[in-house]
Amino acid sequence: MKGIILAAGRGSRLYPMTLPVCKPLLPVYDKPMIYYPLAVLMQAGIRDIMIIIPLGEEGPFYRLLGNGSKWGVNISYEVQEVPRGIADAFLVGERFVGDDSVCLVLGDNIFHSPDIEQIMANAGQINEKGATVFGYYVDDPRSFGVIEFDDKGNALSIEEKPRFPKSNYIVPGIYFYDNQVIEIAHSLKPSARGELEITDVNIEYLKRGQLHVIKLEDDFTWLDAGTADNLLSAAQAVKRVQDVSGRYIACLEEIAYRRGYINGEYLNILADKLKQTLYGQYLMCL
Ligand code: G1P
Repeated sequence: MKGIILAAGRGSRLYPMTLPVCKPLLPVYDKPMIYYPLAVLMQAGIRDIMIIIPLGEEGPFYRLLGNGSKWGVNISYEVQEVPRGIADAFLVGERFVGDDSVCLVLGDNIFHSPDIEQIMANAGQINEKGATVFGYYVDDPRSFGVIEFDDKGNALSIEEKPRFPKSNYIVPGIYFYDNQVIEIAHSLKPSARGELEITDVNIEYLKRGQLHVIKLEDDFTWLDAGTADNLLSAAQAVKRVQDVSGRYIACLEEIAYRRGYINGEYLNILADKLKQTLYGQYLMCL
């Protein structure tokens, strides 16, 4: 399975912060935002990863992440010149995906759960055919894709940003698809807001009877860091979880080490470069 991170949005809801630096490179507490979606893909066991970035941002992304080899993964980059919606990721990434299945994560979404590796591995496995998305309970679902369920918990409908939502369950920005997604993405028409909607991809899978929805439990945290308030809340949440649990969220070196992608000796070399920070000291303790 391939992994794509869509990190090409202008971040206009965060102006002026995102005028000189694109949104996925902004900090969320103690690490760049892009670490969080990258961590989730690594926790799903995905090692071939493409990051879709805005034009002109190759240098900063490469300086930060390189080709991923320091964490035992392969990272490549593709530029999306004009943002055309989330589903455009499958047109930009068509060659990269090839005949494979794919997991797409949004570059400003943060996921955390003590069981995240298990949850992601299960989602990847269920998804041999069709699509797997998650359902996450929120108080106000109106700015998201909203799923309606029947009495047995099967998905009945999905609507993008409905005025009158049919449930409180939204689809967060992580999606597992089989290879049909490429053909589906090609068949999409832009929505009223001029975008190729990921919700339209999910609706097509639903029509084909191939959409699996996993409801996330209460101990799962999902955060979207796309506005100034959300960015601050996300940073506070990351700090709180890390302080209370003593474990770091989205610590790429730790994930790579625990999964056996890098050895202890190499982990020490990486930790040494960061030793002035608590992050580096945490790595040393591993
Ligand atoms: C997008 C999707 C929406 C999804 C949300 C998750 O919304 O269109 O279905 O629930 O991401 O963050 P947008 O960021 O385009 O408003």
